[in-house]
Amino acid sequence: MTGPAAVLDRLNARHPWSHNDHFHGWVLRHLPERRGSALDVGCGRGGLLARLAGAFDHVSGIDVDAEMVAAARVRVPRADVRRESLLDARGRHDLVTVVATLHHVPLEDGLRAARDLVAPGGRLLVIGLARTASPTDLGVDLASSALNPLVGLAKHPRVERGGPRPADVPVKDAHESYAEVRAAATRLLPGSRFRHRMWFRYTLAWER
Ligand SMILES: C[S@@+](CC[C@H](N)C(=O)[O-])C[C@H]1O[C@@H](n2cnc3c(N)ncnc32)[C@H](O)[C@@H]1O
Repeated sequence: MTGPAAVLDRLNARHPWSHNDHFHGWVLRHLPERRGSALDVGCGRGGLLARLAGAFDHVSGIDVDAEMVAAARVRVPRADVRRESLLDARGRHDLVTVVATLHHVPLEDGLRAARDLVAPGGRLLVIGLARTASPTDLGVDLASSALNPLVGLAKHPRVERGGPRPADVPVKDAHESYAEVRAAATRLLPGSRFRHRMWFRYTLAWER
């Protein structure tokens, strides 16, 4: 690779940052009023669990990957972390978060399962990945690609000397487009708010 793309690539490699962690602030700004119990679905290494632990009486996490479950247990000892799939999970929570995980399961099954975990008055907050399929999607993604290294530089100016790196977690490409996710959410979660965001993510918020 040569030219501007190569420069962006080199800068991204030297100043990486986690697009998922970046949205933790959005989650914390949209917490429900009642803060008894929070569940993080696809909790990975427990980064979001650690932040929710200060805001809820009880925090739990589920993930299908044994290594992630072990890492999250170590990172957040007071959280109840289980090896379980979103599609098998039971119970009701004031907050259910699903960060970069919904596209790991069939979309409608995942939305129904996440919806059913929300207690009356509770909230579902999803940070998701979707496929770029329209000119608008492409515009947002191009802007994200161009600005990505600048954000990396601002967040971790010294990362090339051994600073933090995004967590090593199981990843997967998204199949459904932003429009398809929005349409499914409109059908299954009436009143939900969907937004295609910068940094290759959408946010979806819904109250039961
Ligand atoms: C891209 S990672 C995101 C991890 C974490 N939420 C974060 O933001 O760092 C996706 C996570 O979803 C988990 N996962 C995949 N399928 C799942 C399922 N059916 N139920 C629960 N977790 C699942 C994976 O093991 C992985 O830890």
